[in-house]
Amino acid sequence: MNRRRALAGLSGAAGLIAAVPALGQKPRRMRPQEGDVLVHAFGERAGEALAAGHVGPRPVAAYAMDTASGVVRDGSLNNQLLVVRVAAESLSPKAARYAVPDARGSDTLLVYSASCTHTGCEVNGWDDETRRLACPCHGSEFDVADAARVMNGPAPRPLAMLRVALSDGALRVTGGFSRRVGPEPP
Ligand code: FES
Repeated sequence: MNRRRALAGLSGAAGLIAAVPALGQKPRRMRPQEGDVLVHAFGERAGEALAAGHVGPRPVAAYAMDTASGVVRDGSLNNQLLVVRVAAESLSPKAARYAVPDARGSDTLLVYSASCTHTGCEVNGWDDETRRLACPCHGSEFDVADAARVMNGPAPRPLAMLRVALSDGALRVTGGFSRRVGPEPP
């Protein structure tokens, strides 16, 4: 049986995110901003605030939303995120710096960019057994408990992590990405 599955509802490709939003950049295209709340990206709950309890054993796709205007930052394929549940005891020290404790138990939540660092495909695969994210384009695999360390395939770098906190039951952006999102420029 093929253990790897595509994450339901994910679509599209991902690319680069500018380190700083360009002047005049449309809010929908801006990278996640401090104070934004994460919302479901797809499915029946699209646009609904993503609560810790919504994240089960498999990753959930998300976007950031500006709470003042209600604008969901889905105007760029660069902005897609993956929220992953990881047991606290399995976190590497680096991942632990970005992990948010889930108040209900010993689990934590981590938010990764879905933009592959190889050529920018959308990372939308998941292996239940190894608990790795997988890129469908060239087979790169990323260990979610170890800051998305590359475990297989041609991706040269881990996926970027986004700094968030749990606030009133919602995941709120509290900082920037841990590294460049997506591939290096040619
Ligand atoms: S784009 Fe992800 S492995 Fe090539």
